[in-house]
Amino acid sequence: MKVNQKWNMPDLKAAKQRTKKQVTIEKSLFNIPSEVKNIGVGRKYYLRTYGCQANERDGETIAGILEELQFEPTTNYEEADLILLNTCAVRKNAEDKVLGELGHLKYLRQKNPDLLFGLCGCMAQEEDVVDTIIKKYKHVDLVFGTHNIHRLPVLLYQAMMSKERTIEVFSKEGEVIENLPVKRFGTHKAWVNIMYGCDKFCTYCIVPYTRGKERSRQVEDILDEVKVLIKDGFKEITLLGQNVNSYGKDLQVEGGFAYLLEEVAKTGIERIRFTTSHPWDFSDEMIDVIAKYDNIMPFIHLPVQSGSDSMLKIMGRRYTSEQYLTLFNKLKEKVKGAAFSTDIIVGFPNETDEQFQDTLKLVDHCKFDNSFTFIYSPRVGTPAAAMEDNVPMDVKEQRLQELMKHTNHWAKVNNESYKGKIVKVLVDGPSKKNKDVYSGYTPQNKLVNFTGENIQSGTIVDVEIIEAKSFSLDGKAIKVD
Ligand code: 5AD
Ligand code: SF4
Repeated sequence: MKVNQKWNMPDLKAAKQRTKKQVTIEKSLFNIPSEVKNIGVGRKYYLRTYGCQANERDGETIAGILEELQFEPTTNYEEADLILLNTCAVRKNAEDKVLGELGHLKYLRQKNPDLLFGLCGCMAQEEDVVDTIIKKYKHVDLVFGTHNIHRLPVLLYQAMMSKERTIEVFSKEGEVIENLPVKRFGTHKAWVNIMYGCDKFCTYCIVPYTRGKERSRQVEDILDEVKVLIKDGFKEITLLGQNVNSYGKDLQVEGGFAYLLEEVAKTGIERIRFTTSHPWDFSDEMIDVIAKYDNIMPFIHLPVQSGSDSMLKIMGRRYTSEQYLTLFNKLKEKVKGAAFSTDIIVGFPNETDEQFQDTLKLVDHCKFDNSFTFIYSPRVGTPAAAMEDNVPMDVKEQRLQELMKHTNHWAKVNNESYKGKIVKVLVDGPSKKNKDVYSGYTPQNKLVNFTGENIQSGTIVDVEIIEAKSFSLDGKAIKVD
C-alpha cells in the first residue's frame, strides 16, 4: 500500500512485531489543549460500538473524552454533529455491517454539511479497510486507531478546523495509558481493563495485529479503579483482557492473574467476572482462587475453537482436546455449580468431516451452557488467510447448523435443571415492553426474565425459576435482599 505522507496509515507488518522492550505506563499522556477545550459546545455526538467488551470499554473512554470536550450524547443520528463508529474486525460480516452503515448514513451530510463522520476501533487498524475508506467512503472525515484514542481531542480539532480528512493509526506494540476520562454506560455493572493486547497469534485471528502486545495495568491502578466503582455503587465488575491468564507476566507480578483476582475479591465488591481465559495457561492457583471466593462468579468462558487435535495445531492454539478436557473437568469439579461457555469456529481451511465430528464429540462431552459459534472468516494478514481452502461455503454452513443443533440442545438441557430452583438475580431493570417484567443475570450468567413488583435495578433478588428456554429462564421474584 502507498504511504501517504499526510497520514499515519496502518501497517500490519509493524503491528505484528513483538520486542522485549519494557512497556511504558503513561499517567499523564492525555491532555486537552486550550483551543480544543470547548469544541463540543452546542454539538451532539452519536457513538455506535460493535464487537467485544474491550470495544465497549473503549467506547466508554471515547464518550468520556467527547463529553470533556462538551459534546452531548444523542441516540438519534439525525441530530448528530459527529457520528463515530467504533468497530470490530474479528469477522468479515462485522466489517460489512459497518461499511453498510457508513454508506447508509451518508445522506445526513446533505442535511448538515458540518456533520463529521469518524471510524475507529479494530477496523481502523487494518490496511485494506483504511484503503477502502480512502477510496470509496470519501465522506469519512476522521479515522483513528486503537492506539490513538488518547489523541482524540487533537484529531477531532484537526478534522473540524481543516475540513480535511484526518487519519492517524499507529501500528505499534502499545503502551498502557492511565487516567483517560470514562463515561460508564452501566449504573451497577462495569468493565475494568486489566490488560491490553494479545501475543497468542492464533492463525485465524486479527486481534494481535489490531490491539498490540500483551501489556498489563499495574495492580494498584486496577484496585484503585475497583474501589472507586464500589464507592459509586457498582455491584458487578468484569475484568477484561484478551487472555486474562497472562495478566502480570510482563510486569513480573508474582502470582499473576490468581494474585490479582484474589486482591480484587478482597475488596468485597459483590460480583466479579473475568473474560477471556485461554485454555493454555489457566493455572491451578487461578482455579483455587475462583473456588475460594463467593464474590467470584462461577461462570467460565473457555473458548475451545475446535475438538480436533490436528485442527487445534493448525489454529495455533497450543493445547490438545485432551488437555482442554482435563482443565474443563478440573474446573467443573473444583468450582461447584459452575457454568461454562465457549467459542467454536467451523469451516477453518481444509477442515475435514472427521475433524468436525471431533468438535461435535467435544461439545457433547462438555455440554456447554452457552456457545458462540462462527464460520471461519479469512482476515487479511493472518497466516490462515494465506492457506488454500477446499471446503465449500455450503458445507461450512451445514456444519454450523449441525453444530448449533448440539449447542442449543445443551443450552436448553442445562437451563432445564434450574426449573423449580431459587436463584439470585442482579437486576438490570424492567423490560421495555412490560414494566412488571424485569431482567437480570444469575451468578452463572443465566439471563432471567421475571415478574415482581417495585424492584430496583442494581439490587439482588431471589427468583424462583418457572420455565426454561435455550437462552433464558423465566421466573417470579420471591424477596428483595
Ligand atoms: N473467523 C471466525 N471466527 C473468529 N474468531 C476470531 N477470529 C475469527 C475468524 N477469523 C472467533 C473466535 C474467538 C471469538 C472472539 O471470535 O472463536 O474466540
Ligand atoms: Fe485471537 Fe487467539 Fe488472541 Fe484470542 S487468544 S484474541 S483468538 S489470537
